[in-house]
Amino acid sequence: MEYSQEIKQLKEALSFTPDNIALRLLLVQKLLAEDFLDDVINECQEILKKDKSNLAVKELLAEAFYKQEKYSAVIMIVEEVQDDYNLPFKLRLYYTKALVKDGNIIAAQEQYDMILSMSPNFSDAELDAALRVKMHDYLDELEMEDAGFIQKSDVSFKDVGGLDHIKREINLKIIKPLENPEIYKKFGKKIGGGILLFGPPGCGKTFLAKATAGEIQANFINVTISDILDMYVGKSERNLAETFEIARAHRPSVLFFDEVDALGANRHEMRANAGRHVINQFLAELDGMESDNDGLLVIGATNTPWALDSAFRRPGRFDRIIFVPPPDEEARMKIFDLSLRDKPAEQVDLKRLAALTEKYSGADIKAVIDIAVESKLEIALETGEIQPINTKDLVKAIKQHRPTTMDWFNTAKNYALYSNQGGLYDDILKYL
Ligand SMILES: Nc1ncnc2c1ncn2[C@@H]1O[C@H](COP(=O)(O)OP(=O)(O)O)[C@@H](O)[C@H]1O
Ligand SMILES: [Mg+2]
Repeated sequence: MEYSQEIKQLKEALSFTPDNIALRLLLVQKLLAEDFLDDVINECQEILKKDKSNLAVKELLAEAFYKQEKYSAVIMIVEEVQDDYNLPFKLRLYYTKALVKDGNIIAAQEQYDMILSMSPNFSDAELDAALRVKMHDYLDELEMEDAGFIQKSDVSFKDVGGLDHIKREINLKIIKPLENPEIYKKFGKKIGGGILLFGPPGCGKTFLAKATAGEIQANFINVTISDILDMYVGKSERNLAETFEIARAHRPSVLFFDEVDALGANRHEMRANAGRHVINQFLAELDGMESDNDGLLVIGATNTPWALDSAFRRPGRFDRIIFVPPPDEEARMKIFDLSLRDKPAEQVDLKRLAALTEKYSGADIKAVIDIAVESKLEIALETGEIQPINTKDLVKAIKQHRPTTMDWFNTAKNYALYSNQGGLYDDILKYL
């Protein structure tokens, strides 16, 4: 095979300026395009003698070696690179393919994850086949661990005590748009985005989200962010994308994300900056930029709103951020009532119990009932006789359980007083 005219000219030019690296690179590219692989390798090695760390050259060299099926040579090139986070795209690609040929599937998977996190739309049939990139392995795992990933909700707003303003807000912001999309569109209101619930633990955030699903007979999909985050770069984004994909496939659905504050937290990630990718992926899904989010309601929850990335608060994302306070008196009555329903209990004085449990969260009230149940259980085991729970048992149990919301308010108060980001904490201060 003979060199093309272009290569001949470049070679001649280089004989006058042999140290012109840019010109030599151009020659290498032409040689590679015309499949003079031995020449490519010689030229590259020539440049690398002078410029040891030239990644552009290594990229071309790796491609030539790969085409000659010298896979361990490709791997060696990359393994010499110190900062392998910044590999040029094709260098990483040939490295990944070489790893597959070399049988190192785990390392190849990790590299491919990184390629996909940087270029989410990239795909390579050979790699897909070899690495069996299953879009649904995360769901499989979840289904095995927890068959309740997609639930039918058995509660609705009538089961939620108090919190009327929040029910109204949810109604206006997410239920009505779902039921009357054409009216909202006529007024130029974008449907989508989501609401974010925050407040002390155990006060009904999850319960409200589930009740919202029940209210409109939608599927309830409950996802804890830390379950989605994965050590491998790129995997977290894929898990997120899959979760949204599943939720869209089961519309109408309420997609509930617990611990949204964990998004963007770096502790689960191997590399700095990976948290950014995950947040951006989440926001893109929420914006419905690439897909249609009609019939998909997104509700997030956090106990630590101060740890939340500010990107979430911009319009079109979580544009309603709602404080879920500890249950008021009416709500506490309801929680006592509902929680006692499936237990042997007398008609109890709900009003009195509610009056004694100010600052108690829903979870605290359940703990109180547990204490009363246990004392009755002991008696039943001793005497063989089942006595129903009465008001007195519960009053006694209340004295044995301190409310847990105060610690949260002490922390929240500091944030509210000293960094009241855009009035985010006004509701907390109002409550206090
Ligand atoms: N306003 C409320 N009405 C009825 N039940 C409530 C209310 N608030 C809390 N609960 C009860 O307390 C439990 C704990 O609430 P949960 O939603 O898990 O709290 P959070 O998600 O805010 O930590 C719920 O399962 C529910 O039974
Ligand atoms: Mg919860």
